[in-house]
Amino acid sequence: MSNLKGKHIILGISGGIAAYKSVVLLRLLVKAGAEVQVVITPNGKEFITPVTLSALSGKPVVSEFFTANTGEWHSHVDLGLWADAMVIAPATASTLAKMATGVADNMLITTYLSAKAPVFVAPAMDLDMMAHPTTTRNLATLQADGVTIIEPATGELASHLVGRGRMEEPEKIAAVLDSFFGRNHDMAGRKVLITAGPTYERIDPVRFIGNFSSGKMGYALAACAAARGAEVTLVSGPTELPDPPGVNTVRVESARQMLEACEKAFDNTDVAIMAAAVADYAPRHYADHKIKREHDAVEAIELVKNPDIAATLGARKRDGQLLVGFALETDNAEANAREKLVRKNLDMIVLNSLADKGAGFGTDTNKVTVITPESATAFSLKSKNAVAADILDCIIKKL
Ligand code: CTP
Repeated sequence: MSNLKGKHIILGISGGIAAYKSVVLLRLLVKAGAEVQVVITPNGKEFITPVTLSALSGKPVVSEFFTANTGEWHSHVDLGLWADAMVIAPATASTLAKMATGVADNMLITTYLSAKAPVFVAPAMDLDMMAHPTTTRNLATLQADGVTIIEPATGELASHLVGRGRMEEPEKIAAVLDSFFGRNHDMAGRKVLITAGPTYERIDPVRFIGNFSSGKMGYALAACAAARGAEVTLVSGPTELPDPPGVNTVRVESARQMLEACEKAFDNTDVAIMAAAVADYAPRHYADHKIKREHDAVEAIELVKNPDIAATLGARKRDGQLLVGFALETDNAEANAREKLVRKNLDMIVLNSLADKGAGFGTDTNKVTVITPESATAFSLKSKNAVAADILDCIIKKL
């Protein structure tokens, strides 16, 4: 936990049973040498007393906008600037909703809205609340805003029901923060090119051939590499995701456009990560006018092979450049991935198998195996942000 020494951390506590675990988290952070300012919601105080928290942190706990008897104002703006990181544990459904929509009716939310530092949340709630579409939507919003979600565990809950929603253990949360600070700038000075999302190959002005790629994995890699100090160019096919903060995002539509954008950037790149689901074929002819329904049958749409972006860059690769591909396989997964590694002249390939529940297209989670000519490292099912961090760790080791 040496990376926490001297770090300024805001520990936000909202009103859930798991607040008792926040005491242990606070103790761990302080023991590791961090300076911790606790900000607690009014409901949070029903679960754990400010006296315990201020004794352990060595600082008065902040909860109200004003100290009632003196009228002293607590500046969330100053707090937001002071922090190197903010972690909200437990984050209840209500706190997550307020964060996602900006309902700034307590000191914790105003501090969150003022925070300039990276924010982590450790959700804790009952399984039905956790599984509710509202919670899913709010977490997705927060993730898109750059908040890191420390996934809740599955286990026995305060209601005695068993399911997903138990706050991650304090040791794990402290470890996430520690490794965040450790990694903080380990990609400084590196130029990284990432492809993401699907490509659309036009048939006529209203139709295309495409695929279900959401772009989430590539965007998570881009955001993570930028947060670790890299200079990132993200070449993205059509997605609904916002540009990741601090990333040069180039939006393209077709495989050919994606190749063109990548070729422009590649010579000036240290690491290229090909996370896009590039359409393998495109229509040979583009119909200028919408193909009408009046025909009884449409003659076959003839397809031609698209350029292989990864293989094209692989053939151009200089010493010192690292090229990373992805492989989505249904069977003979590792053998197929290794074949692609060689054929495309890659240095590393990230395998995700469609056989794994929660992995692959559209999901917020992924389960990958990172394969190099010498090794294969299997990781567990994690959020795409956490997977991105693992992949970048493997890349850093290789560099
Ligand atoms: N890729 C690419 N350009 C293409 C096709 C794939 O850059 N035209 C990249 C992908 O971004 C990925 C890797 O190559 O990093 C493997 O993609 P995949 O679709 O699994 O491989 P294919 O070569 O298309 O093989 P197949 O469809 O036969 O499995």
